[in-house]
Amino acid sequence: MNASPCAPSLDLGASSSLQAWVERLVERARRRLGQGRVADYIPALADQPADRLGIALCTRDGRLYSAGDAEEPFSIQSLSKVLLLSLALRSHGDALWQRVGLNPSGMPFNSLMQLETEHGKPRNPFINAGAIVVTDHLVGAYATPVKHLQDIARRLSGNPSVLIDREVLASEWRHRARNAAAAYLMQAFGNLHNEVDQVLEAYFASCALRMSCRDLARAFHYLAAEGRSPTTGEAFIPPAMAQRINALMFTSGMYDAAGDFAYRVGLPAKSGVGGGIVAIVPGELSICVWSPALDASGNSVAGQYALELIAEELGQLRR
Ligand code: DON
Repeated sequence: MNASPCAPSLDLGASSSLQAWVERLVERARRRLGQGRVADYIPALADQPADRLGIALCTRDGRLYSAGDAEEPFSIQSLSKVLLLSLALRSHGDALWQRVGLNPSGMPFNSLMQLETEHGKPRNPFINAGAIVVTDHLVGAYATPVKHLQDIARRLSGNPSVLIDREVLASEWRHRARNAAAAYLMQAFGNLHNEVDQVLEAYFASCALRMSCRDLARAFHYLAAEGRSPTTGEAFIPPAMAQRINALMFTSGMYDAAGDFAYRVGLPAKSGVGGGIVAIVPGELSICVWSPALDASGNSVAGQYALELIAEELGQLRR
């Protein structure tokens, strides 16, 4: 596998020094614990332990390095939007972009404002409305879309015990008003083809998958490896598709804070309100950080700080 032209091959050193590096990063990022708030708009997430912090890296040879709480499964929430999009692009290709846009929204991830004025076409696949349209496509394309997604998450992570957290799923369902409003609005504009309840249930189930930092660093490595999964050895998506998904993560993966994050970290990334963030160094690394306390945009505070430290140190390696 070649490194991409904008990311010259990094000398990450020997395995032992990489492991020590990750351990040091966790220690430094712990300084931000105690800041931010755990998401409570989904009540089942409200009692997540705010003092957790994990980091996992997957290198181009498929090796994993991790420290802190990297083995503890957590609710992946919006990280699932990347898997949903990858599956929908695999089965539908660029025709998907007739139903969902490619631009940052500059608005909170669950905002309804643009949907009305923009005729039910969500700005991008990483806000809730966009992911609901993508899920609608998958509901139409697969007989058992949730099982398909769970199987893919298991295969890509190499962990056969990846599960859907039924309590989180039920909690999201009970507090679905805003997502349901988005779905009905899109249905009114002709941009939702299946039953709203069916689509919402599949969308919530994808968000309720539980995976650890180690699972996620491995599962998302296809985005660092031109579409190829180190776990299965297969091309999961074509190289150009991986490049485009990275571009979308760069512009829209961190919601209304995408610009701040791009300035501070400069990597394609996707966050979830469970406190996970996946970031990609194309051609080199997939990274997952997790810490449940979030900032006002819904992005993990200590997780973002850990990624800042990682980006800074990778930058120094390149100089
Ligand atoms: O639909 C929701 O609101 C959640 N299941 C997912 C939101 C989320 O993770 C946004 N990310 N920061």
